[in-house]
This record gives sequence, structure tokens and C-alpha cells, in this order.
Amino acid sequence: MKITVKNSGVIKLTTKKHPRHGHLFVAEAARHIPFLIRRIYFINNIKKYSCRRGNHAHKKLKQAMFCLNGSFVLSLDDGRKKQKLILKNPETGVILGPRLWHSMSKFSKHCVILVLASNYYKESDYIRDYNDFLEITKRK
Ligand code: TYD
Repeated sequence: MKITVKNSGVIKLTTKKHPRHGHLFVAEAARHIPFLIRRIYFINNIKKYSCRRGNHAHKKLKQAMFCLNGSFVLSLDDGRKKQKLILKNPETGVILGPRLWHSMSKFSKHCVILVLASNYYKESDYIRDYNDFLEITKRK
């Protein structure tokens, strides 16, 4: 997976795969995840596979997103470049840094998304308007 947009990156977890006993994935703060984790959240039970989630950027928040089961398309936009990634391997996560517009779509059955975040939930850190986002990225 190659990331071409700004304020993003790939995270590879340590994995221990056993052919019959299952796969173990490890993410350690600072070692795999390049920020201190203050919050985790996960998304499951998506019934409308064609829906779109996300559709926002953050001012300061850093996040790491993983697909634990199934697959989805992660669309990234740094204000200049856009990129679409298919997330389907739990071993490979994507960093969602500040000022990176992101949305999740094309969910498979039983898709489970895990997000590690650098701070608590704060609505004032969200940029939910795409034109505001473009203005902010122009200034930076
Ligand atoms: P939102 O981040 O907009 O969802 P997504 O980007 O996954 O589509 O969050 C959906 C709702 O949940 C919104 O009302 C805010 C709330 N929320 C919290 O209260 N705490 C959280 O940690 C998150 C991620 C969302």
C-alpha cells in the first residue's frame, strides 16, 4: 500500500499467525502508533453497504484506522491530492493525520473498523464542511 496524500501513512502491526489457532495482531503505543492513544472506537453492524461514513477532517486529531473484518474503501483527500485505498487486511492500518478529509464507503458484509485516536471526542475539532476544509488546507 502506497500513500500519496499528505498527513497520512501506513502502519504495519506485529502479527503472529497460526494456521489453526488464529491470528494475533499487536499495536503498541509509540512503537506502532505514532501518537499516544486517548480513545478507541469501532464500527460494526453496517447494514447498508452502500452508505458513506466519515466525510470530514480534523483540525488536530490524529487517528489510525484498521479494518478488522471484511473490507471497505477509504477515500483520502489532503486538499490537493485524492486517493482511494481498499482496507481489508487487519495487519495494515492507515494514519489519518490532521487536515485530511476522509470517508469510508463500499462496505462488505460483516465489516468491522477499529480506530485509535490521539484525543477524546470533541466536536469542535471536526471540519465537516468541505469548502471550509479547502480554505483551511489553502492557508497551511
Ligand atoms: P462521526 O465521527 O461523525 O461518525 P463517522 O465519521 O464514523 O461517520 O460520529 C457519529 C456520531 O457519534 C456523532 O454524533 C458524534 C458521535 N461520536 C461520539 O460521541 N464519540 C466518538 O468518539 C465518535 C467517534 C463519535
